[in-house]
Amino acid sequence: MYHVEIRPMTTEDCKEAAQIVQENPLWERYEYGADEAFHSFTNALGNQDEMLLVATEPQGEIVGFAWVQPSGGLGRAGYLRLIGVAPAHHGQGIGEQLIQAAEDECVGGTMMLLVSDFNERGQQFYERMGYKRAGELEAFVLSDVNEILMWKRKEQEEKPDITGAFSTFSEE
Ligand SMILES: CC(C)(COP(=O)(O)OP(=O)(O)OC[C@H]1O[C@@H](n2cnc3c(N)ncnc32)[C@H](O)[C@@H]1OP(=O)(O)O)[C@@H](O)C(=O)NCCC(=O)NCCS
Repeated sequence: MYHVEIRPMTTEDCKEAAQIVQENPLWERYEYGADEAFHSFTNALGNQDEMLLVATEPQGEIVGFAWVQPSGGLGRAGYLRLIGVAPAHHGQGIGEQLIQAAEDECVGGTMMLLVSDFNERGQQFYERMGYKRAGELEAFVLSDVNEILMWKRKEQEEKPDITGAFSTFSEE
């Protein structure tokens, strides 16, 4: 395991982190490159519902990022929007450290995510991290790709708090 520091992304980091998107061919299918990533990271930094993290190596180089919505999973969990590690650093445990840090940001420590049906290595990675398949969203983003919904529940408390599940029905 290659230990990295994980810290919140800053405006100055956005360009370097967006470069990691460009380097990973996965996102070409979504036409999501460095420019699109840069703009979406910059916008998200100004939104308190979003949390962006970067993984840096000792010299300060950014080698990975994670983008999580801490209560974006049906109000009872977090939602991992994106995670990426620089290809030169794949397989060194950086993704694992980013996932753990992202889970720590999530409501109840539980996180949901979508992974493309063609991204088999991504699916293996999430399964190894303890994520289970909950279903498949047909052509959810691209017309020829299904998105697989996965989630990992934090260990259940003895008396779970169910208020969040019904919050949409509560009186204002
Ligand atoms: C998926 C990803 C974030 C994993 O990060 P990582 O730092 O390589 O992962 P770790 O080192 O913690 O874990 C390695 C595991 O990830 C999986 N993996 C996925 N892609 C991999 C790659 N290109 N190289 C090596 N392992 C990869 C393997 O299952 C591997 O397990 P193994 O060591 O038993 O073979 C990273 O490979 C990546 O950025 N991929 C491209 C973008 C992507 O698929 N994002 C997820 C969907 S949004």
